Formats: sequence, C-alpha cells, structure tokens
Amino acid sequence: MAALQRRRKRFSTGPVETLPDYRPDMTYIVTDNCIACKYTDCVEVCTVDCFYEGENMLVIHPDECIDCGVCEPECPAEAIKPDTESGLDEWLALNTKFASLWPNLTERRDPLPEAKEKDGEDGKLAKYFSEAAGEGD
Ligand code: SF4
Ligand code: F3S
Repeated sequence: MAALQRRRKRFSTGPVETLPDYRPDMTYIVTDNCIACKYTDCVEVCTVDCFYEGENMLVIHPDECIDCGVCEPECPAEAIKPDTESGLDEWLALNTKFASLWPNLTERRDPLPEAKEKDGEDGKLAKYFSEAAGEGD
C-alpha cells in the first residue's frame, strides 16, 4: 500500500482541494467483471495510459489515474468503478498491487475468447483470477 499512501500524501495539500467537487483521494479501479473478459476498450480512451495488463484482467494504477472518468462508460463489462463506491477496498488494493507488477497496455486487443460467456458471472476473482502478467505493449 506504499504507492497508495504516497498518492494520498501527494494530494494532501494545495489550493485545488478547495474546489467543491474535487475529491483528492479518488481513483478509478477495475473490478471483478473484467476477469476472463478483458475487452480492453478502456485503454484506448485513457489519456495518461495508466492501465496494466494481467493474464486475464487489467488494473488501473491509482497513482497515475487522473480521475477523469472517461473509461468508465467505455467498458462493455461495466467493470470500471470509482473507488468512492462502497465495498471496493479489496479492489483498490488489488489494482494498486498489480499495477506495479504488470506491464503497461495502451492499445486495444481482442477480448478473451470466453468473454461473452463469462460476462456477468459472479465471483470471478475466486474462480478465475490469475496473478500472471500479461504481455503489455
Ligand atoms: Fe485513465 Fe481517466 Fe480511466 Fe483514470 S479515469 S484510468 S485517467 S481514463
Ligand atoms: Fe476490463 Fe472493461 Fe477494460 S473488461 S479490459 S476494464 S474495457
């Protein structure tokens, strides 16, 4: 969680915090339904290229995400969420950890072969998650 702590420290002071809608501790993260789908539409719209590729899902680097929200509606699996939603602590930790281990992905790829079949299935973290890195680009 060192990276996350650094990020929170980086945003802990400064005049921008006085803006009413600005939430300094926010990031977007990738959650369960990306696993075994990996559509990759998200990487094409991210202007700061902060997606990282595992074998069967992507994660967002919380230190690099500028919280623009553009990727959220682009995900066919609705797997991208703001970490301000409740119950996502586990996913914030997973995104933070694997963004520092997996390679960067900036260009769209074909979805995984089983994407349509697995889209919407419950409990994919326990059933299918792989710690293995993807290829990146
Ligand atoms: Fe990239 Fe914006 Fe999505 Fe963050 S919210 S991952 S900066 S597109
Ligand atoms: Fe995953 Fe959705 Fe991107 S399925 S790879 S977060 S478009």
